[in-house]
Amino acid sequence: MRRTIIAANWKMNNLTGEVKNFFAEFGDTAVNSENEVVIAPAYPYIALASALSAGKNVTIAAQDVYPKAEGAFTGMVGGKMLADLGVKAVIIGHSERRRIFGEPNELIREKVKFVQENGLHLIFCVGETLPERENGSMFDVLKEQIYSAFDDNLTLAPEKITVAYEPVWAIGTGVTATPEQAAEMHTFIRRILKERYGYEDSRILYGGSVKPENIQGLMANEDIDGALVGGASLKASSFMKLVNFQAVK
Ligand code: PGA
Repeated sequence: MRRTIIAANWKMNNLTGEVKNFFAEFGDTAVNSENEVVIAPAYPYIALASALSAGKNVTIAAQDVYPKAEGAFTGMVGGKMLADLGVKAVIIGHSERRRIFGEPNELIREKVKFVQENGLHLIFCVGETLPERENGSMFDVLKEQIYSAFDDNLTLAPEKITVAYEPVWAIGTGVTATPEQAAEMHTFIRRILKERYGYEDSRILYGGSVKPENIQGLMANEDIDGALVGGASLKASSFMKLVNFQAVK
């Protein structure tokens, strides 16, 4: 049984007061939910979020990492700092990092390796752009993103490798993939993970304009094991509805 993950990616949002309000309202929601809850605040708020969610069944994640333990890397945050802050999971390869910051597959590969070596839970994002979907190359795009990031001998336990399928055209746009479109891509990713890496029990999340109104339909498919949520995770009221949802497969 793969436990459903509901993950929040706050991106460059939520200041001190908002983080405090969020956790005050969120309370024991994760303790009382059957789903696994992950929250990725921006770096400066990780310590606050960790403190406010201590003992509440929330895994605090980072939105990225520089793949070095420490050293002369101006502007970066590395492995030792994340460990020091109690971070247990890291999002790698988000399309905003690939697109806005020009992260190439080689750097993403280094980051994936680093996350593995440090025993952190990897949340690895893949997804095609609209032109790639329109010209039918989305399967090849996903294959390339996965093959270029993972060594043939992945060493993380399957439950610590989570892939997030996030079609770029659905992120922050209000347009979601239909449950059928998402299911098709998830089944494809699951097949690659199994055939090439022997991973059957990794979770595959859907991301891209997930909200309380559409989560049930999206999560109905066998191969969709949860959601990575941006906009609808910023406010506790909306994220709580997502965390409290129960998958009917
Ligand atoms: P969104 O973002 O829910 O705002 O579309 C999802 C993501 O980028 O992870």
